[in-house]
Amino acid sequence: MPRLLRIDASYQADGSVSRHLTGVFAEAWRGRGDAYTVTERDLRTDPVPHLTHAALHWAPTTAPATAPAADESYREAAQTQRTLVAELLSADVLLLGAPMYNYSLPSTLKAWLDHVHVRGLTSAADRDTRPLRGRTAVVVTIRGTVHGPGTANEHRDHVVPPLELILGEEFGMEVAVVMVGRTLSTSTAALAGERPAFAAERAAAAARLTALAGSLA
Ligand SMILES: Cc1cc2nc3c(=O)[nH]c(=O)nc-3n(C[C@H](O)[C@H](O)[C@H](O)COP(=O)(O)O)c2cc1C
Repeated sequence: MPRLLRIDASYQADGSVSRHLTGVFAEAWRGRGDAYTVTERDLRTDPVPHLTHAALHWAPTTAPATAPAADESYREAAQTQRTLVAELLSADVLLLGAPMYNYSLPSTLKAWLDHVHVRGLTSAADRDTRPLRGRTAVVVTIRGTVHGPGTANEHRDHVVPPLELILGEEFGMEVAVVMVGRTLSTSTAALAGERPAFAAERAAAAARLTALAGSLA
């Protein structure tokens, strides 16, 4: 039974382009048949807490010498982590809605990433234990301006690089990045001239996501 884990992180409930596009993917996925299931996690309405215990970055077998205090707060944090990791490990395909905020990841998505990157469990530590290796992560990243090659913002994207490092290099997943820029053109009169380019980018992204959802897993 092919499973999709869809995670949205936009701070907007309505009018979010990333939420719209992850929805396009999820619909196309469901459209393949009843066996194609979707688990949805919305970090705006259901944020995960920040990681509170550094020891949770390591699987128990590979942890550095400092033993965590087994107090109530540690047990709660470990339970949250187990839930998030189990959800990720049960997914055949991971779909992330990742808007750019202040040149970087939504802090909610970073908190999720801090929970699910566990050395010796989801990434390799003393031996290569990478259960997610070979699975696909689709990153839908949306930004108000343009950040492509040759633009002033070319080297100011701190959304895609950490996701490629953790999901791709550390977890061994195949990372597909779908990017749309210029969303600010829809609400800013001075940028109105960019609206056709924005519409074209959004349409191309929707078409690519539909094709990906129809071919993965
Ligand atoms: C707090 C905040 C910070 C933002 N920082 C940036 C930024 O650094 N660069 C950029 O291009 N757009 C920035 N934006 C614009 C968002 O990336 C844009 O609104 C995008 O459409 C958000 O994704 P969504 O449509 O899925 O909500 C920012 C928006 C907010 C609310």
